[in-house]
Amino acid sequence: MRHFLKSTDFSPQEVEEVFKLAQEIKKQRGRIDSEWLEEQFWGMLFFKSSTRTRVSFEVGIQELGGKVLYLNKNDVQISRGESIADSARVLSRYLHGIVIRCYDHSVLEEFAEMGSMPVINALSDYLHPCQIYADAFTMVERWAKDGPLSESLKGRKIAFLGDTACNMGNSWILGGSLFGMEVALSGPQGYEPGDEIKEELRRSGLNPSWTFHTDPMEAVKDADVVYTDVWVSMGMEDEEQERLKTFSPYQVNEQIMQHAKPDALFMHCLPAHPGQEVTQEVLDSPASIIFDQAENRLHIQKAILAMLAKING
Ligand code: CP
Ligand code: NVA
Repeated sequence: MRHFLKSTDFSPQEVEEVFKLAQEIKKQRGRIDSEWLEEQFWGMLFFKSSTRTRVSFEVGIQELGGKVLYLNKNDVQISRGESIADSARVLSRYLHGIVIRCYDHSVLEEFAEMGSMPVINALSDYLHPCQIYADAFTMVERWAKDGPLSESLKGRKIAFLGDTACNMGNSWILGGSLFGMEVALSGPQGYEPGDEIKEELRRSGLNPSWTFHTDPMEAVKDADVVYTDVWVSMGMEDEEQERLKTFSPYQVNEQIMQHAKPDALFMHCLPAHPGQEVTQEVLDSPASIIFDQAENRLHIQKAILAMLAKING
């Protein structure tokens, strides 16, 4: 049984196939009925809030012919102490697959190990692979010419500013190597990428392609994309005051954008907090492609679901 818990769960060849599928699925939306998940019931177990991920998966699964059950963790017995292992075994008797958003990444791994259905990571504290696949596809749409779509990412530079140790920073460390991109991370000392993601990258066998800079200007120099994320991720609310102060030199503003390539794109996984990690001016600028990114969550996730259906049979 194959799952999608991290970006490297698909090989570079499969990534190319996912991009091609997403391109096709996007083109055909609303014109051709898709049957990849016909007769299937998918669960969506969410321990955290969501706008984009929840809605794009609910719409996407149904557009692929499947049916969806949204399960807020407060409404299932996990909230009253039922184990993840038992929940995985029970839910596998009803469902054909499950999409999970959780705090501890081990919840996803345990579901995958103990259940008997595909598991998709809809964000954990550690990784958000659906997001970076959508992001990479959004870049591909702008850069691809003839030949393999994923080739257009190779050698491109992405600068990620802010909390480089969060799920999005980690995702870019791993995903950058998978896509053949150069990833320049920039944030305050003490918030550098942790050992877990370095070990993950080592295990993947991919060439590491990331660097860490405390100077944001150094990181954005010659960047094709400037990327940021919230400074206070879900679950870190207690650290809010301290984080807003510590991360303030890493705000993406016009001055930062001017140090990147002249045609550099601005990207953000959203939700954004204008005035904190990015200015309203940059969010609204022609360089900003944030809503294309958000839209592509739908198309790429449909492609990921279709790919898993094809692989798992
Ligand atoms: N980017 C993202 O995952 O958004 P949501 O938290 O709204 O799902
Ligand atoms: N790092 C953010 C991403 C939100 C999509 C969080 O985990 O809250």
